[in-house]
Amino acid sequence: MSRSGILLDIQGLYKDFRGVEVINNLTLCVRKGERHAIIGPNGAGKTTFFNLITGRYTPSRGTISFEGRPISGMAPHRINRMGISRSFQITNIFPGLSVLENIRSAILSKKGIRWSFRRRVSAMADVNRETLDVLKLIGLDTQHHLLAGSLDYGAQRALEIGISLATDPKMIMLDEPTAGMSIEETRDIVSMIDRTTKGKALLIIEHDMDVVFSLADTISVIHYGTVLASGPPDVISNDPKVKEAYLGEDKAC
Ligand SMILES: Nc1ncnc2c1ncn2[C@@H]1O[C@H](COP(=O)(O)OP(=O)(O)OP(=O)(O)O)[C@@H](O)[C@H]1O
Ligand SMILES: [Mg+2]
Repeated sequence: MSRSGILLDIQGLYKDFRGVEVINNLTLCVRKGERHAIIGPNGAGKTTFFNLITGRYTPSRGTISFEGRPISGMAPHRINRMGISRSFQITNIFPGLSVLENIRSAILSKKGIRWSFRRRVSAMADVNRETLDVLKLIGLDTQHHLLAGSLDYGAQRALEIGISLATDPKMIMLDEPTAGMSIEETRDIVSMIDRTTKGKALLIIEHDMDVVFSLADTISVIHYGTVLASGPPDVISNDPKVKEAYLGEDKAC
């Protein structure tokens, strides 16, 4: 059984690449419905940490449990099926498919339905309804026929988040969703993330502090592969260790 209310439970995690310890005794929990931001300097190990949770990398040591079940070492698609969905720092859409086809493929893969003449019409009606629901949620329903590759950058990121949402995950993981966006695009995507992830756990890596403080109820600071501090935004922003290691950096340079 999972500890009460804890969805993701990470204890004493390590990962080294050829002897270099990139994740170093990292312990962190995410509760059901929690909105948890991961911040930290470049190279601190944030994306590696995501890769360990989603099964792309196997930890050198330590445990990762989701809903009380160990997931370290499991294949990425199995971890995804358990309810963890992730979008990447680099966009991960199919540019040659339409917006609608991108979402529909994600829904089909969740349901395990392959394209086939034998598929049941009623099952496809469900898939089409769910596809439309997701398109509306991410505000791309009127652009459903466009090729994904022809969308502007902000819309491509929205589509990518839609692909993650299509599998109806319990926890959604976003790696720098606002990277490279204009102020307007950032505002739109933050409001979309806020709206679409309600009720789900959100684990988000983000450098933009305005985004972090507007979305997160918990912030963990990762520094040299370990959690330097973790807590509510007001506590973290006043933590002297955090100020020294990260927030106090001159971000304009
Ligand atoms: N597959 C790999 N092989 C070797 N070293 C790696 C590998 N993946 C990551 N690293 C190293 O691990 C360290 C942490 O990288 P990581 O991408 O996790 O940092 P990050 O906190 O996400 O940084 P950023 O904010 O720039 O995205 C870096 O020094 C990186 O070069
Ligand atoms: Mg990264």
